[in-house]
Amino acid sequence: MHQVIELKGVAKRYDSAGAAPVLGPLTLRVAKGEALAVTGPSGSGKSTLLNLVAGLDKPTEGAVTVAGRRIDQLSEHALAKFRREHIGMAFQFFNLLDDLTVTDNIQLPAQLTGTSRRKAAARAGELMEMLGIQKHARAYPGRLSGGERQRVAVARALVNRPALLLADEPTGALDTVSGHDVRNLLMELHRAGQTIVLVTHDLSLAEACASRSIHLVDGHVALDSYAQAVR
Ligand SMILES: Nc1ncnc2c1ncn2[C@@H]1O[C@H](COP(=O)(O)OP(=O)(O)OP(=O)(O)O)[C@@H](O)[C@H]1O
Ligand SMILES: [Mg+2]
Repeated sequence: MHQVIELKGVAKRYDSAGAAPVLGPLTLRVAKGEALAVTGPSGSGKSTLLNLVAGLDKPTEGAVTVAGRRIDQLSEHALAKFRREHIGMAFQFFNLLDDLTVTDNIQLPAQLTGTSRRKAAARAGELMEMLGIQKHARAYPGRLSGGERQRVAVARALVNRPALLLADEPTGALDTVSGHDVRNLLMELHRAGQTIVLVTHDLSLAEACASRSIHLVDGHVALDSYAQAVR
């Protein structure tokens, strides 16, 4: 599988007669191992694009194929299963469960796909080590700093080894230092070959973490550029 994402003639419109689509129509392919940053002004369609790729929203036109599977016509049930197995998501507000420990938060998606508790725990341990949060394994998220929480959210997103990691403003709620931690983490994941789509207003984050960026204006790709060198 070479393309992790393939959007063909995809458009999203909301029904106000005659209004232009909020996104597209656009055609976009993201290859395995690419780290794509999506930038653009507020309202340009960045989150809409991410939601279509995640199957959280359906296009009005066109075909959305992710990890080799056409997803735009799947049922909600099939989509939920598809997301659990193939897509990791890390958004601005971490959405961790406050009454579960860090370990249990990270393990949860693995257990939901039927991974044994023992295997899920091993994978969670491996990720916590990689992300430098193992000392918080038994803590509750409420006790952690923003940067630590975001790393827990990223670990949870990666627990099922997703073909694709989606991040929407992952540093948006963080201070500078925590933001740098998350930035370094995304850089490392990209180096390790993880396919990533990162939505951000932060151009320095996009520049540091991405091998390619697209800039959206009014729902269209105004610029599509590859980084000079892969870091
Ligand atoms: N349910 C909806 N009904 C009508 N319009 C919508 C709906 N959801 C989003 N939109 C419109 O779609 C456009 C794109 O929104 P989107 O959330 O994708 O922007 P964004 O680029 O992520 O912006 P931001 O940087 O502020 O997060 C906006 O003009 C928004 O008002
Ligand atoms: Mg948005």
